Amino acid sequence: MMLRAILYLFLLAVPAACDRSGAVVVKEASAEEKARVEVVGAGVAKGLMEALGSELRRVMEVGGPLTAIPLCQKIALPLTAAASDSPDVIAVRRTTLKPRNPANAATERDRVVLELMAMRSEPEVEIRREGDAAHYYQPLIVQEVCLKCHGDPSTFPKELSEVLAASYPADKATGYVLGDLRGAIHVTIAIP
Ligand code: HEC
Repeated sequence: MMLRAILYLFLLAVPAACDRSGAVVVKEASAEEKARVEVVGAGVAKGLMEALGSELRRVMEVGGPLTAIPLCQKIALPLTAAASDSPDVIAVRRTTLKPRNPANAATERDRVVLELMAMRSEPEVEIRREGDAAHYYQPLIVQEVCLKCHGDPSTFPKELSEVLAASYPADKATGYVLGDLRGAIHVTIAIP
């Protein structure tokens, strides 16, 4: 508990130390911006989360985890396209501290946000303002269905382990338990 408190203070202190040279400056958005960004961000992120949960369950029931792998790979793409209907949405991505696909690894800003999220007993949406964009982060919590591919690897069917090892030789995304923070959906939204 003590360690958590110290870590928390440390994390608070780091983003506050803004850098005038133009290096990453992570700060809070204003209340007004937050309200607008929350509506746009939630619209995109909720759709993605529902697709992840319900689609995965449906496909896995029919064909098991192997048939569902492409879903977790490709799921962000159609939603990114759908989100582009909203002119304010610049990008949609998933991010994590323990990536399966290195392309989803946390950036420096992501890392600060994810570490803060992980320390909350109930991770919540975090919004950061940076230049002309707001960064909306929706926590992704590990549900039962996620454990089939992100849980204890000794419980994975052999074929699944083989496919994962072949596609993701640097896979760090296993060993999660129910309720863990798996990562976040990151929606970048333009601030007019
Ligand atoms: C059928 C197997 C499978 C299931 C079930 C599954 N995932 Fe994944 N997950 C993957 C694969 C494969 C990737 C790598 C995708 C890629 O290449 O971008 C991945 C990547 C991710 C990423 C992106 C970060 C990273 O590590 O590359 C997140 C976040 C994620 N999964 C969350 C979840 C959540 C939350 C659930 C449960 C709702 C879930 N996954 C269920 C297979 C699965």
